Amino acid sequence: MQEIGKIWMNGKLVPFKDAKVHVLTHALHYSTSIFEGIRCYNTPKGSAIFRLPEHVDRFFKSAKLYSMKMQYTKKEISDAIVKTVKTSGLKESYIRPLAYYGYGTMGLTPTQNKVDVSIACWEWKMGESKAGKFSGAKCKVSSWVKIDSRSQPMQAKAASNYANAALARMEALENGYDEAIMLNSHGKIAEGSAENIFVVKDDIIQTPPLSAGGLEGITRDSIIQIIEENSGYVIERNLERDDLYTADEIFMTGTAAEVKSVTQVDKVKIGNGNMGHITKALQKSFSDVVMGKDERFLPWLTFI
Ligand SMILES: Cc1ncc(COP(=O)(O)O)c(C=O)c1O
Repeated sequence: MQEIGKIWMNGKLVPFKDAKVHVLTHALHYSTSIFEGIRCYNTPKGSAIFRLPEHVDRFFKSAKLYSMKMQYTKKEISDAIVKTVKTSGLKESYIRPLAYYGYGTMGLTPTQNKVDVSIACWEWKMGESKAGKFSGAKCKVSSWVKIDSRSQPMQAKAASNYANAALARMEALENGYDEAIMLNSHGKIAEGSAENIFVVKDDIIQTPPLSAGGLEGITRDSIIQIIEENSGYVIERNLERDDLYTADEIFMTGTAAEVKSVTQVDKVKIGNGNMGHITKALQKSFSDVVMGKDERFLPWLTFI
């Protein structure tokens, strides 16, 4: 981690090294935090944050699902994000807003503690996400079942959801794969460990409905809108493991992953084992959109 710029903590920009929390912070013990992952791209027209209002909306939705009393308005958080990015001087970055039950009272009940908010950003270049983005990722169907909304609110981007995701990711890596695909408790495809998933068969693009347990991804929504704007469509339906093995193409979407091709699932080659033409076209369209080259989607960019 390169310590560039400052980290916004409860309204103050503090040096990277000093952005610390107490060891008895509630969230450290009980996972009572929610967060966002946002990208700022170095477009030819200047640095721009991708879909900032949508990320801030999801941040507040996640907070509400954990009864967090935010001391800031959406506008204050948006302004703070822009300020943090500007202060860093970075042209392209990954931005991490975090809200967590802080230090005060120890014990399970979080609501007696204040909700602290921080915003950090670090350098992240376009296409930098590892795991075979261009060559094609090898994915393992995880033996860990995706937790579901009977246990936790899955539409919250909450730290507590990510222990399950991290186990799946670790299992995939330990077995020589790049990424995990998670099934829900009904055996249907939910999503990757930190990405939504799309399957292409006979040129028809399909993705699991959100009720299958995936996060309501902002990249997922962007890709669906881009496809529709280009006169295509996406079918939302429950997908089986069989649908993965027989797919012509599979791709994953996420703020970090962008549009990532999947060329192998378990020991099965997808299509001809190379990135498919629809995935390739969507990678290009998405890159044009985030780089401000597609006028139709310019409102998705907040220039800083
Ligand atoms: C579990 C999970 N699913 C899907 C996504 C993709 O969401 P987005 O496109 O908003 O980054 C993410 C990343 O945030 C994630 O962590």
